[in-house]
Amino acid sequence: MSTPFEITFARLDAAPLSTCVAFACQDLTLSPAVQSLNTKSQGLLLKAAEAGQFKGKSKTSIEILAPQKLDCQRLLLIGAGKAGDNTETDWAGIGGYALGQISARKTTEASLVAEVSGADLKPDALAATLAFGALLRHYSFRKYLTKKNGEEKDNDKENGSNGAADAKPAQDRLTKLVIHCADPDKARAAFEDKRALADGIYFARDLVNEPANVLGPVEFAERVKELERIGLEVEILDDKQLKDMNMNTLLSVAQGSARPARVAIMQWHGAKSKRAKPLAFAGKGVVFDTGGISIKPSAGMEDMKGDMGGAAAVVGLMYTLAERKAPVNAVGIIGLVENMPSGTATRPGDIVVSMSGQTVENLNTDAEGRLVLADVLWYVQERFKPRFVIDLATLTGAIMVALGKDFAGLFANDDKLADQLLAASKVTGERIWRMPVDKVYDRMLDSKNADMKNIGGRWGGACTAAAFIQRFIKKDTPWAHLDIAGTAMDAPKNEINTSWGSGWGVQLLDRFVADNFEKGEK
Ligand code: BES
Ligand code: MN
Ligand code: ZN
Repeated sequence: MSTPFEITFARLDAAPLSTCVAFACQDLTLSPAVQSLNTKSQGLLLKAAEAGQFKGKSKTSIEILAPQKLDCQRLLLIGAGKAGDNTETDWAGIGGYALGQISARKTTEASLVAEVSGADLKPDALAATLAFGALLRHYSFRKYLTKKNGEEKDNDKENGSNGAADAKPAQDRLTKLVIHCADPDKARAAFEDKRALADGIYFARDLVNEPANVLGPVEFAERVKELERIGLEVEILDDKQLKDMNMNTLLSVAQGSARPARVAIMQWHGAKSKRAKPLAFAGKGVVFDTGGISIKPSAGMEDMKGDMGGAAAVVGLMYTLAERKAPVNAVGIIGLVENMPSGTATRPGDIVVSMSGQTVENLNTDAEGRLVLADVLWYVQERFKPRFVIDLATLTGAIMVALGKDFAGLFANDDKLADQLLAASKVTGERIWRMPVDKVYDRMLDSKNADMKNIGGRWGGACTAAAFIQRFIKKDTPWAHLDIAGTAMDAPKNEINTSWGSGWGVQLLDRFVADNFEKGEK
């Protein structure tokens, strides 16, 4: 939902656009291309660096206006730190930082010289990764700002000097970014999968940022259905079908809302064998969580428009897998409901028979996400017999008490699956921390009146929530649960995300799939 923005690739010797970005590493190590800019300008780059006490430290910069002998109006020299120490995530962050610097200048087009000496990445991967970071940073959700896209709120008029780093997130005027590199064709090819990933993340961010009046369960399902255009097979189950299938715990959450529930099932068939067992991903899609009859306090309740962050991540992942034609079979399933208090809402004490046949006593209607997941997880295992299932959910406030907002909680019944996710986390920078799955939590769910209640005791809320979900996982299904309440929305901003809805999880799971299930499939 950002402004139109085009990233293209050109040769290092192509003429730069009016704003040109180049990188210098720690102690002002310059790559050949940047060295030649310095030579062409009769040493201006290094003189300016000295005058500005710029040493090439990561995420610092200087701006040189009207540089003599260079065909650009301004040159931004950006620090890349110790090139050899930078991970792929760091490079994406540097690309994001560069984009932030460019946007703050309110220019419409810019060139980025993607050449750095001593980086661990190959030149084309480096160019693609910088472009990827820039693309993610460029995202902003402005569709409801009508007054010239909010420009009038921006008092930070063009000042032409530094200080632009502090500029407010004004309307980004940038529409064109050219990445200059040694082999544009190779870089363009390396960027293709990253663009697919960024597109999936953009799609997820848009879903999370959209307010709940616009994005109810039906509208959400419609947006998913449209993804047939990129090659996904999409089925939407309506409330009548859900009733016939006995998805009663899911429906018990939706019954207080004027807007009916939906379940969306997305399939991607990319493996050589169409019959190969799929990888399965499930998401909590509570379009708005008032808490129901166990109503939440009003302060901050507006954030509960993001209680579908798990579903958004699953959709974003499926989007990416389809767009980059991943050689795997995957299924994504999301339960879409709205949790409202009303005359038809579930009461505390109500007992419901889940699709699995197990009965659940609802002792707190605000513990609704697990009820949605119980039925969709059961269904996806019964129908698809997947190799494993991973669910994502903005499930508990308790996970934020435990881990803060930079880490998601990982719960798993399978060490191999957990380790694969932890490894993908390390390389993508989407942080996860393993939490316990144990019978002590499971016991807390025992109820006198039904097979289980939907809340545990006072303590370990994220763990009892995971234990509840596990009751709907079959013995031989490897399963992992990611509690993303802290990371999916209103997470700390960083160089590649300034959006409230972060699209968290798409990158992690895309890498997890690519690194573990695609080898030998292509
Ligand atoms: N959607 C919330 C969890 C949440 C809270 C996500 C804040 C993001 C930010 C979830 O449905 C919920 O209300 N959980 C309760 C569970 C409790 C009633 C056992 C919670 O965490 O308080
Ligand atoms: Mn809730
Ligand atoms: Zn919720």
